[in-house]
Amino acid sequence: MVTRKPILAGNWKMNKTPAEAVEFVRALRPKVTPYPQVETVVCPPFVALPAVADALRGVKIGVGAQNMHWAENGAYTGEVSAAMLAGLAGYVIIGHSERRQFFAETDEGVNKKLKAVLAHGLVPIVCVGEDLAQNEAGVTDSFVSGQVRAALAGLSASQATGVVIAYEPIWAIGTGKTATSEVANRVCGLVVRGAVAGLYGEQVAQTIRIQYGGSANEKNIGELMAMPDIDGALIGGASLKVDAFAEMVRITAEQR
Ligand code: PGA
Repeated sequence: MVTRKPILAGNWKMNKTPAEAVEFVRALRPKVTPYPQVETVVCPPFVALPAVADALRGVKIGVGAQNMHWAENGAYTGEVSAAMLAGLAGYVIIGHSERRQFFAETDEGVNKKLKAVLAHGLVPIVCVGEDLAQNEAGVTDSFVSGQVRAALAGLSASQATGVVIAYEPIWAIGTGKTATSEVANRVCGLVVRGAVAGLYGEQVAQTIRIQYGGSANEKNIGELMAMPDIDGALIGGASLKVDAFAEMVRITAEQR
């Protein structure tokens, strides 16, 4: 049986100045470093990355960016490339539903970004998930597996193995409505892992890590992490509070 290291990533979205970010990670550090069995990652806004990377040098807490452009450099005003992130961040969130919804990101763009992230040796956290209308129309499985296949298009099996996929039902993000752990596990396992198995076979599917995201917090993380196909969480609101986030890491560690 393959053991997959649990990964909890805090997606801070557009929150915290560089000074607030540093204060946060200094407070977080002693609370989560006793749990090396969990991969803990914080994803601050771009401008806080240098200060957070400095504050965490030599510390086993990962740093991630929330987005990037697929090109190496060029005439893309306001954008940041993977080459610029390398050295500051070890992870990059790609294709978050807010990027897809408010910034017109497409599956094709997600695929290009994924290739650029991998080319720079960073760990991609690729987000997929259906909205409320799709959920109610019963098309979750086909939609989500289509997003997974589109994101991974053209990747080799060894590249795919290093990808983290976050299943985030849009209706659960920031709403306080979590998918039940059974529903989350079914989509993470049958749909997301199933799509990976269809592309690369069972071994890659069993190795790849799949997070749940959407109103995950210190009250529901235990139940979510007890599920066999959920390997971690992408956490928005609850990751902005040191104690809540640290508690999620502790609960996860104690289950493993
Ligand atoms: P939430 O956000 O935990 O606040 O629902 C999760 C996310 O958008 O990644």
